[in-house]
Amino acid sequence: MSAYETILVERRGRVALLTLNRPKALNALNARLMEELVGAAEELDRDPDTGCLVITGSERAFAAGADITEMAPRTSVEMYLRDWFSAWDRLGRLRTPTIAAVAGHALGGGCELAMLCDLLIAADTARFGQPEVKLGVIPGIGGSQRLTRAVGKAKAMDLCLTGRTMDATEAERAGLVSRIVPAADLLTEALAAAEAIARLSAPAAMMAKEAVNTAFETTLAEGVHFERRLFHSVFAFADQKEGMAAFVEKREPEFRNE
Ligand code: CAA
Repeated sequence: MSAYETILVERRGRVALLTLNRPKALNALNARLMEELVGAAEELDRDPDTGCLVITGSERAFAAGADITEMAPRTSVEMYLRDWFSAWDRLGRLRTPTIAAVAGHALGGGCELAMLCDLLIAADTARFGQPEVKLGVIPGIGGSQRLTRAVGKAKAMDLCLTGRTMDATEAERAGLVSRIVPAADLLTEALAAAEAIARLSAPAAMMAKEAVNTAFETTLAEGVHFERRLFHSVFAFADQKEGMAAFVEKREPEFRNE
């Protein structure tokens, strides 16, 4: 894996850990970080030896948003011509399951990056918000859409219009966060969840992810139909035979991703 300036990439078996590494700027998401993180994640996604990705930041900040210093002088036409932030969309198209392990500030683009992941595991120190309105702008990496789908209009309007933050407890109650863990255990817990996912049948895990994500894009009837067709198709996998045989024989399954 090549060397990066703004992230650290570590392999732990079938799990890859990507750590945002701009501590002095509270991991503010500049263009370099966006390219490096998205590029590294795509490279890992293409690798059949990757079963799960974990994206994390520091104790103090997952990410305090898009880099305000970098954006401040930009013009509208420049943002449009460069299609600023569109690279982030590629993160939402990864097929490998992803986990955001969030401690400290997850604001603006930081909250949006966490919401681009499949599971959001939060330390009890995590704080979430979309404070862009206080800068005279609005969310630009999908925050107004994904936050609303995650927590509903009432909370999303509150966060996007007042710029206030939610602590981990409020965020979990609202449906943004999958689990809260003590800050000291964040990485251990996130990696344990990632390892468990990485041991599953990769095609079954990918299909489960695809099925859940389809719920956000379609009607209930079409979504259930799509799920049913995927469900039927998994019976063509050797892993289905292995998973069910292992259950019957009271042993651990050995999935071969076939
Ligand atoms: N962009 C660039 N630099 C940032 C940054 C950001 N989003 N957030 C923090 N930093 C920098 C600070 O400028 C500061 O740098 P210096 O030491 O060189 O002055 C350093 O990180 C530490 O920050 P603070 O001194 O402010 O730390 P604090 O503990 O007092 O406050 C904070 C922490 C409340 C998170 C505060 O830094 C803050 O409010 N940050 C901005 C949050 C924000 O508005 N995010 C949204 C950005 S816009 C966006 O994300 C658009 C989008 O939808 C994609």
